[in-house]
Amino acid sequence: MPRSEHRVHREVVSYVRRSARMNPSQAKAWESHASRLIIPVPQRELSASVHPEAHVDWDAAFGRRAPLAVEIGSGRGEALVALAEQHPDWNLVAFEVFQPAVASTLSRIARHGVENVRIVLANGVEGLDRLFAPHSIIELWTFFPDPWHKPRHHKRRLVSPEFAALVASRLTRDGVWRLATDWSDYAEAMREVLDAAPGLVNPHAGWAPRFAERPVTKYEARGLAAGRAVHDLEYRPVPRVGDLVHRRPHPGPRTEVPL
Ligand SMILES: C[S@@+](CC[C@H](N)C(=O)[O-])C[C@H]1O[C@@H](n2cnc3c(N)ncnc32)[C@H](O)[C@@H]1O
Repeated sequence: MPRSEHRVHREVVSYVRRSARMNPSQAKAWESHASRLIIPVPQRELSASVHPEAHVDWDAAFGRRAPLAVEIGSGRGEALVALAEQHPDWNLVAFEVFQPAVASTLSRIARHGVENVRIVLANGVEGLDRLFAPHSIIELWTFFPDPWHKPRHHKRRLVSPEFAALVASRLTRDGVWRLATDWSDYAEAMREVLDAAPGLVNPHAGWAPRFAERPVTKYEARGLAAGRAVHDLEYRPVPRVGDLVHRRPHPGPRTEVPL
């Protein structure tokens, strides 16, 4: 895979390092499903990092070739599994750094019987950069990223100009980046960064309608109960001269090829 020119070796990360202690049911789910559903990736010296030379053969990891969609910060997997059920013809890769949440996701995957999800227990920013070829992802989802409220922590927010450039480089020409947040100031900051991102366009010119396939997660429900408004955003790569002015019908094309 071509090495990216994007510098995302930031030690300033978008997540909190928390204890990996799992409760008994999470430990059981981990033991039962991790070897099948977790994709191990070589790390740098930092935990949750992705080594610059890491590589994953996604067709082999899923046992088939299909359009790739990615979620970064999948939490307990509520949106991930709902989206996997709605897109059985896509291969879904989730990045999450918090092991107990990943264990809960494994258990949800098993309960719902979805076969088209794999999880990487690592920093999704580095993963997107290092494990995916340019223009290889049909959709990217970043739902309710950590808000990092304090001004001195804003640099830890997932949505930044550098990350926007990376996303633009990884989406297919008709790809879509869907975001949601229940923090109005972060929503405004996302709009400011992404509306100015040279590689992306906002097809709605403002907030996107709620992404209908996205379920209300526990996290979102808490925000709503606290009286916060939820904003959805959607960005697409800038069309190039010569690209067909054509938007992928919904749902995406059935291009699954058994290996
Ligand atoms: C506020 S929670 C939201 C979880 C989920 N999207 C939802 O809506 O319920 C944000 C999650 O993103 C994860 N996270 C933050 N930055 C990440 C990164 N760079 N790579 C992978 N996971 C990340 C955190 O560990 C946390 O579980």
